[in-house]
Amino acid sequence: MGIEPMDAARPAAAPLACLDEPTARGFARLRAWLVDRIKRRALVHLHRTRSGELLVLRMCLIAERATEATLQADLAPTAPDWLQKQIAWHLAEEQNHVRLFADEIAKRGAPVDLNARPDWISARKIARWRALALHHAPRFQAGVLVPTYAVGMCAEQMATRVVKRHVETIGAAHPLAPVLHQVLDDEDKHVRLCRATLQRAVRPEEEAALAALLAEVRAIDRGWGVRGALWMYAAGLAYRLRPGEPAGAQAGA
Ligand SMILES: [Fe+2]
Ligand SMILES: [Fe+2]
Repeated sequence: MGIEPMDAARPAAAPLACLDEPTARGFARLRAWLVDRIKRRALVHLHRTRSGELLVLRMCLIAERATEATLQADLAPTAPDWLQKQIAWHLAEEQNHVRLFADEIAKRGAPVDLNARPDWISARKIARWRALALHHAPRFQAGVLVPTYAVGMCAEQMATRVVKRHVETIGAAHPLAPVLHQVLDDEDKHVRLCRATLQRAVRPEEEAALAALLAEVRAIDRGWGVRGALWMYAAGLAYRLRPGEPAGAQAGA
C-alpha cells in the first residue's frame, strides 16, 4: 500500500533536510561499524541454537508490540482527522508483524507471550524517547504529534537497519527469510510515511527545532548501541556453550 494522500493542512514546504539519516563520521562511524559487526556475529550464534533463535524472535515480537502500543495509545487518540486513516493502516501492518513473529515462535513449539516486557536497554531507550517527545512538544504548533512522529521515524529507520542486517546474516535460504523480507518492505514504507507526515506537520520556521530534536533522538539510539550488541553476543555465546542445547531452525553462517 502506498502512502495515503493527506489533506492540505498548509501549502507544501521545501523538503526538510534534517529528515535524512546523517552520515556518521570519525569515531561515530567506527562505533557504528563495530556495533554492526558484533550484532552480525551475535545473530549467527543466536540462530545456531533453538533458545537463541527464540530469544531473537521474542525481541522482534516485543519491538513490534511496542510500536503497536505507541500507535494505539499515544497517536490514535490525539491525532487529527487527516491522520486517522493512515494511522489505522499503519497499525494494521504492525499488528501483522506481531502475528508473523508470534507464529514463528509458535512454530518452534514455544509459548507466545504478547505481554512480555522489553529488555532493560530497550525499555530505557523507549522511556527516554517518550520523555523527549513530551519535552519538545510545546516547540511545535502541531504539539506532541511532531515529536512522536520524529521518534517514530527514527525507530522505523532503526527497524529497517536491524531487519536488513538480520536478513543479510541468515541468508535467503533460511526459513525466517520470507518473513523478514516482508517486514523489511513494510518498515521501509513506514519510514517514508513518517517523513511525509513530518513534512506536512512541521512549519518551515520550526525546522531548526525539529533538527535539534532528531539529533537528540538519534544520540539516545546510538548511546545504547555497544551495550546492546555486547549483550546480544554474550547471550548467543552462552546458548551455544550450554550442553545439550538443541539446534536452531537452520545454521545461517
Ligand atoms: Fe513493524
Ligand atoms: Fe514499522
